[in-house]
Amino acid sequence: MTEAILLVGGKGTRLRPLTVNTPKPMVPAAGVPFLTHQLARARAAGVEHVVLATSYLAEVFEPYFGDGSALGLHLEYVTEEEPLGTGGAIRNVASRLRSAPGDPVLIFNGDILTGLDIPALLDVHRGSGADVSLHLTRVEDPRAFGLVPTDATGRVTAFLEKPQTPEEIVTDQVNAGAYVFRRSVIDTIPAGRPVSVERETFPDLLASGAHLQGMVDSTYWLDLGTPQAFVRGSADLVMGHAPSPAVPGPCGESLVLEGATVAPDAKLSGGTVVSPGAVIGAGARVHGSAVLPGAVVGEDAVVTDSYLGPRTRVGARTALTGAVIGDGADVGPDNELPAGARVWCEATLPAATLRFSPDQ
Ligand code: GTP
Repeated sequence: MTEAILLVGGKGTRLRPLTVNTPKPMVPAAGVPFLTHQLARARAAGVEHVVLATSYLAEVFEPYFGDGSALGLHLEYVTEEEPLGTGGAIRNVASRLRSAPGDPVLIFNGDILTGLDIPALLDVHRGSGADVSLHLTRVEDPRAFGLVPTDATGRVTAFLEKPQTPEEIVTDQVNAGAYVFRRSVIDTIPAGRPVSVERETFPDLLASGAHLQGMVDSTYWLDLGTPQAFVRGSADLVMGHAPSPAVPGPCGESLVLEGATVAPDAKLSGGTVVSPGAVIGAGARVHGSAVLPGAVVGEDAVVTDSYLGPRTRVGARTALTGAVIGDGADVGPDNELPAGARVWCEATLPAATLRFSPDQ
């Protein structure tokens, strides 16, 4: 049996306002809390026991997932009194693991959407005899990532901070946020203080001569840390570009969940999801967007690549592109917000005033 730790305690500051009332892993993607997709994929890979390392808004996880039996899992929850960072969070749940010292333990960041072949990563780990094995992915522009170069056998040779100059871009391989740790290695992480696994644990292990193995897997991978990425991830799940057994319906251009109301002449496309209690008005066009429970899109509104939080209202004829509308916010009719606009929870934007009159 393989067990897993999921890191779900981050504040998700880049994803605000979606994370004001909801921790990032509980923000819905394709109609269910994002974490559901990760848990379902872990289960499909043979994982049975998962420990969730919680911190920010920790209280919302257990009421939703309970003991995990609905997903065929045994779930446990461990909450940090103070956030311990990624490495500290891993160490903090060690006492809940049942694995023997030599056994592999899977660890996932709670904000990664990926088609990673989890059994293949376990095979690489076992086959190489590594202390830690890391999923690496290749990115076109590595400037925003820590780089992880490897030698010809896949052994990690360095952990490099975000490159500042072109010369520093020595590889396009980056840490993809999924690891296999030998159980005994987890016990060596310092307890009771914040530790970053990326900045402290991995470089320290490397410096001490430990064997860290990289596995480059270039299947679907997206870090859902920003609103744009989150909206894209949800749409990719709906369209079936990102694999998940937890999408609550057949994959296609749109997913309309039971209890949603869509006007017959409204157009939904690009992986749009419409949640229970949401209403899409006549003539509205919604592309690549997530419309959460109770949200209302007015007549002839045009919503593109946007996230409409629970109970939000988008007025008639309003146009949104790449927008994030926080819970309960109200964008009045005839508005055209700048691309990428974020509207805070419960905010009210009045109807746009007439911008020109016909005789001008
Ligand atoms: P930003 O604030 O937007 O950077 O997001 P974040 O707080 O989620 O940080 P980041 O994306 O770097 O976190 C990577 C993963 O580690 C996410 O799944 C987080 O939930 C998790 N994580 C980050 N810090 C902590 C922590 O202190 N405790 C726990 N339990 N998890 C954490």
